[in-house]
Amino acid sequence: MRIFHTIAEIREFVRQARADGHSIGLVPTMGYLHEGHLELMSQAKKQCDTVIISIFVNPAQFGPGEDLASYPRDLDRDAGMAETVGVDAIFNPGVEEIYPSGYCTYVDVERITDRLCGASRPGHFRGVATVVTKLFNIVKPDYAFFGQKDAQQVLVIKRMATDLNMEVEVVTVPTVRERDGLAMSSRNIYLDPAQRQAALSLNRSLKRAAAEVRAGERDAAKIRQLVIDIIKAEPLAEIDYVEIYSHPDLEPVEAIKGPALLALAVKMGRARLIDNIILHV
Ligand code: PAJ
Repeated sequence: MRIFHTIAEIREFVRQARADGHSIGLVPTMGYLHEGHLELMSQAKKQCDTVIISIFVNPAQFGPGEDLASYPRDLDRDAGMAETVGVDAIFNPGVEEIYPSGYCTYVDVERITDRLCGASRPGHFRGVATVVTKLFNIVKPDYAFFGQKDAQQVLVIKRMATDLNMEVEVVTVPTVRERDGLAMSSRNIYLDPAQRQAALSLNRSLKRAAAEVRAGERDAAKIRQLVIDIIKAEPLAEIDYVEIYSHPDLEPVEAIKGPALLALAVKMGRARLIDNIILHV
């Protein structure tokens, strides 16, 4: 497995892989890898001849007061993990490589970014869309892999790729969870044992909501309130949002008639955790 820090090096690596007739898969990450990231890489390995992951904590997608400075970073640990699933190369640029001085071009996906995490983290998806555009332009992958854990993010990337005619197929990989149901996240290391326990209410509330829908409940407001009540029962949890939108269009829904995204964000001490489920009728 190779590790590159410059755009020129990764481009040369891609050029050689292409010359060998290889298809290219890209898995963008911010590092501090866990089983969820590894699942994306394993899927990429199944679908593509050469798999490249990027590890870049992207300043453009963090707001003021967010955890950019404290975001966990450990390249040696990440490289060891990526190697176990057969990743061919890691692209790990410095901030100056991606945003050199004078940088002033950004990608803004409208409408579907004005709700959910887009509403509570202004500018977040502009930063995500911009860095992913740059990674697509640098690596020119045939396939790019994103997790359903970040449900809105994958919809934003798909919309962007379609709208801007990007020649990449965006693949969604289901959310990987701990045995007790907590969605894996690099930010879970912020949780102390009591918060870790309280965090189980997120997945528990989503499963309960899905069970209600299976039992015939269609009223989105009632389902939303049920989720809020379950999470509010945990004193350590502070709800950022609990929302239901149609999936994949992210239109408001009153009665659940087709696939609907139930998504939530909850602050738990220093950690802001997100999770979601798609409700089917
Ligand atoms: P990061 O949070 O490191 O996540 C990288 C990828 O892993 C994303 O596609 C995310 O959805 C996926 N992922 C994270 N946890 C997962 C889980 N439990 N199950 C399945 N997939 C999971 O998301 C980002 O980085 C950044 O915004 C990025 C796309 C790299 C742009 O900077």
